[in-house]
Amino acid sequence: MTKLLLRGRILSFRTRPESLDDRASYVYEEDGGVLIEDGKVAALGDFTALARDAGDAKVIDHRPNLILPGFIDAHVHVPQMQVIASYGAELLDWLNTYTFPEETKFSDAQHARRIARMFCDDMVRHGTTTVAAYCSVHRQSADAFFEEALSRDMLVIAGKVMMDRNAPDGLRDSPQSGYDDTKALIADWHGKGRLHYAITPRFAITSTPEQMEMAGALMREHPDLHMQTHLSENHAEIAFTQELYPWSKDYTDIYDHYGLLGPKALFGHSIHLSEREADVLSDSGSVVVFCPTSNLFLGSGLFDWQRYSKRAKPLRIAAASDVGGGTNYSMLRTMDEGYKVIALQGEKINPFASFWQITLGNAKALSVDDRIGTLDVGTDADITVLDARATPTMALRMETVTTLAEELFLLQTLGDDRAIREVYVAGKPAKTTLN
Ligand code: GUN
Ligand code: ZN
Repeated sequence: MTKLLLRGRILSFRTRPESLDDRASYVYEEDGGVLIEDGKVAALGDFTALARDAGDAKVIDHRPNLILPGFIDAHVHVPQMQVIASYGAELLDWLNTYTFPEETKFSDAQHARRIARMFCDDMVRHGTTTVAAYCSVHRQSADAFFEEALSRDMLVIAGKVMMDRNAPDGLRDSPQSGYDDTKALIADWHGKGRLHYAITPRFAITSTPEQMEMAGALMREHPDLHMQTHLSENHAEIAFTQELYPWSKDYTDIYDHYGLLGPKALFGHSIHLSEREADVLSDSGSVVVFCPTSNLFLGSGLFDWQRYSKRAKPLRIAAASDVGGGTNYSMLRTMDEGYKVIALQGEKINPFASFWQITLGNAKALSVDDRIGTLDVGTDADITVLDARATPTMALRMETVTTLAEELFLLQTLGDDRAIREVYVAGKPAKTTLN
């Protein structure tokens, strides 16, 4: 297999940057090289030194652009590509009016395959190389997505949603069929290539207690698997959930009761958590997922990043687009909106921490940091190349930029898919080969 030697300005994180001056938290090489062999990072460092030892490696010169690990989106819905930008509703109306009707179309395997292909194209176009994704309730929707991701050798975490009530005909499974289809999908896909299966009860509203029991049973039978669901996104949702599970202390208690908390449990939104809920989530090592564009678009609320990360029992936090509730596939756009949400609550997230979050931070939150999220030697070569002069607006502003921190902040504030120059998935160029 050909060896590739990428040349450019390399940035990869070691730890969460605590301030703009936290130089120890990242590796930065001004004239750096990443040697890729067999889909993995074989060496990293000064370009000239690497080139001397790289033998017949093909050099790809990305100067003056930045070379980073591929971005990671910790919560996104594959069957909502034609839901994004739907007007005028809050969560429950938005689900009933736009989202559920759209997702019923995924009983059609051909439609599911078409959207899976376009979804992966759009991820790559936006510099995202890994997602934690929700498919529709239909087994064929998950089959289509896993098949597409496998063909591109992408590391993805995904599952078919389990939902057996409060949804229209054609969009419900049953406790038994949801269990059986999930078991079959795990057997067919989990561990193949770079695929991970996530047990995916959509949320407490769309699962009967019997189905929640089944989700718990699946977790006990497959304790290494991820679990993903939604939690405490919107006040009407929380009130309805409380009616459906009147015995529960609160929303989190429901998932706790069915054995769904833990270090590989991902809770989308988690905006309106009580102190008790935050303690329980923290004690169990569960992850809360910040979805700023979606939380703003659906009017759901302001995720209190500072409170969650600075409390005595801090929460593990991931960041995500949540398309189609979210309004952009780009993790740059996501962190720009995240910055504003945090600013509204009186704090600023520093640009190094933002870029840590969408690379190593999300890899840690998804428990896949042994494989992705950095450019460390031996990890998978999922890489994004960023151009801070991608548009006239950006190029003009770049004339006055003098530091890496300013450049990252500019990329976050003004960047989108146009700033993604190239993407490597498992060491292979993936963006320039898109049709
Ligand atoms: N809660 C349950 N399902 C969904 C969904 O598809 N999107 C969002 N934003 N919240 C949900
Ligand atoms: Zn969601």
